[in-house]
Amino acid sequence: PRAALTDVLAPAQQGRRGLGAFNVIQIEHAEAIVAGAEGAGRPTVLQLSENAVRYHGALAPIGRAMLEIADAADVPVVVHLDHATDVGLVEQALALGFTSVMFDGSTLPVEENLSATRGVVERAHALGVSVEAEIGEIGGKDGVHAPGVRTRPEDAARFVEATGIDAVAVAVGSSHAMTSRTAQLDLELIGVIRDSVPVPLVLHGSSGVPDDHLREAVAAGMTKINISTHLNGTFTGRVREVLAADPALVDPRKYLGAARTATAQEVERLVRLLAE
Ligand code: G3H
Ligand code: ZN
Repeated sequence: PRAALTDVLAPAQQGRRGLGAFNVIQIEHAEAIVAGAEGAGRPTVLQLSENAVRYHGALAPIGRAMLEIADAADVPVVVHLDHATDVGLVEQALALGFTSVMFDGSTLPVEENLSATRGVVERAHALGVSVEAEIGEIGGKDGVHAPGVRTRPEDAARFVEATGIDAVAVAVGSSHAMTSRTAQLDLELIGVIRDSVPVPLVLHGSSGVPDDHLREAVAAGMTKINISTHLNGTFTGRVREVLAADPALVDPRKYLGAARTATAQEVERLVRLLAE
């Protein structure tokens, strides 16, 4: 069923387990992620980024599909809006029934980020919806931010206190959209932030982090683990194989179905890895 973020994050934080949060681009991703989580018998997060909404041109068609898939799942599934910079899009997600939103004001001046985040928290909490927000730029994608950016523990604590958010994304050495798994996280810093902040911590850019290092990050105190690029690699890699093996193939179900199966298997593996 559809679940609130705090309902699945709080027990994960208490048990020092990681909660895999996976990005959806098209309906096959949502189907695969839920199938993988069901295979592992663990909750998960289906997340849709503002960029993915722009790709589709609208939130509702893909957003409604995600909500339906979550409702039909055998395990708790959070439906989360990822990296929203547009408060209007946050409003749309709340109206549609999303159970969690990330407001990303990390590029705003600190005071503006604080007041905008506070506004989102007020509206979301009135509907029982969780809010994740970001302090410190996690970087990647636009090439402007360096992977060397770090969140100061006292800044994270003040930000959580001042905004009332339910989860906080912190910069600890990962970087978005890495296609090699070579990121070096600052495990000591994760531990210090963990002890300074009451709410669960979110790791963005987890695709660049190798398996054993992801487990260390969870042990050090990270809870929500956001993975996108790595799964896109699994999905696209399988499409490429299927198409290369059969140049006469025309039915999209043949390659999308194969990609969905491969993605579900990788999600199941990751969900187990993070939660064990
Ligand atoms: O918000 C989404 C994540 O931070 C995904 O980052 O594509 O580097 O795994 P990634
Ligand atoms: Zn992210």
